[in-house]
Amino acid sequence: MKKIGIMTTGGDCSGLNSVINRVVLGATNRGWQVFGIVDGTDGLCTCPPNVIEMTPATLPVEIARIAGSFLHNGNAHMMNFENAAETGHLTRFNKMLKDSLAALKLDALVLIGGNGSFSLSYKNAAIYSGLSLVCIPKTIDFDIPLTDKTIGFDTAVNELTRYCDQLLLTARSHHRWFVVQTMGRDCGRLALSAGVAVGADAIIVPEIKFNVDDLVRHINRVGRDYGIIMVSEGVTLRGHSGRPADMISRKLSASGIQNRAAFPDYIQRAGDTTAADRILAAKMATCALDAIENRETNVMTALRGNSCVTVPLSEFYAAGDLSRDPNIRELCTSNAYIEPDDPLLDVAIAMNIYIGDIK
Ligand code: F6P
Repeated sequence: MKKIGIMTTGGDCSGLNSVINRVVLGATNRGWQVFGIVDGTDGLCTCPPNVIEMTPATLPVEIARIAGSFLHNGNAHMMNFENAAETGHLTRFNKMLKDSLAALKLDALVLIGGNGSFSLSYKNAAIYSGLSLVCIPKTIDFDIPLTDKTIGFDTAVNELTRYCDQLLLTARSHHRWFVVQTMGRDCGRLALSAGVAVGADAIIVPEIKFNVDDLVRHINRVGRDYGIIMVSEGVTLRGHSGRPADMISRKLSASGIQNRAAFPDYIQRAGDTTAADRILAAKMATCALDAIENRETNVMTALRGNSCVTVPLSEFYAAGDLSRDPNIRELCTSNAYIEPDDPLLDVAIAMNIYIGDIK
C-alpha cells in the first residue's frame, strides 16, 4: 500500500478542494492512504508535522464544490520559506522539510501550486529526492507554461463575467463606463478571457502596449455611452503610479468620458468551482496518481487538448520567461504570458474590442 501526501501552496483559488477530493477518491480506490499536509510546507516545518489522514468518509460532502483550501495554503505566523530566507535560516528550513517528509515515510507527494512553488520545488529537488513529487498547476493567473489550463482559471473567468454582467446594468442606467481591474499579476490572460466573455469594449493587458488617445477614440466610436473596459492589474502607464484602473479612469474623465473604476478583487479567487474546473481537477488528479504508480518524480501534470500528460519540472522551468518572484526575492520563477499569436487576440480584434497596438 502506498502512502501519499497532498498539500496546497501559494495563493488560493477555487478548485483546490476539487483536486483534494479527486486525489483522495482516486488514491483510496487504488488502496492507498492519503495524508493531507496542513498549511503547505509551513505545516511540515513544525514538530510534529501538521498532517491529517484523509478518506472519502471523512471529507465533507461539499468539499468538491467550495473555494479556498480545506488544507490551507500556508501560515505567515509560522516558519516559512519567505521568513527563513529573510532571516538567513534557509538551510535549517530545507533540512526540516526533508526530515519531516522522511519521518512521515511518504512514497509520494502531490503538490497543488503555482509557478512560484513549482520553480522552488525544481530548484530544491534534493528535498524531495526520497519520494515521487508530482505537481498539479493551479492559478487564476494562468501564467504556468506548457499546460493548456490551470485549476481555478475557469472559475475566475466566470466570477469576473458574473460581476461585469451586474455592473453593466448600473453602467447603462447611469450612462457610465466601468474600468474593471482584474488580477493576474503581470500576465494578462485572465483579463483577456474575461473581457471576451463579458463583451468588453476594450481589454488592456501588460503584454500589449496601449495608447490612451486610441482608447478614447475607440470608446467614442462604439456608439454607446456605457460599457466595460477590462484592465489587468499588471498594466503600467508611463509617468503615473497607482492602480492601473484608477490611472485609466482619470485619463478617461479628463477626456470627458463618464466612468468609474471597479475592483472585483478576491472574489476572483472564490466562487463555487465550475464544472469545467472540477472535470479538470479529476483529470489532473488521475494523471498525478498514474504518475505516482509509474514512479515518476519531479513532474507536473499538464492539459494538452483533452488529455492530461506529465511534464518534467526541468522542462517547465526551461520553457517560461524567468523573472524574480514577487514574494520570494531569492527565487526566479518560470512564467507564461499572452503570446502574440494567441488566437483569442484575433477573436477580440474581430469583435471590435480595443486591445492596444498589436497589429
Ligand atoms: O497569483 C494569484 C493572485 O491572486 C494574483 O492574481 C494577485 O496579484 C496575487 O495573487 C494577490 O496576492 P495576495 O493574496 O498576496 O494579495
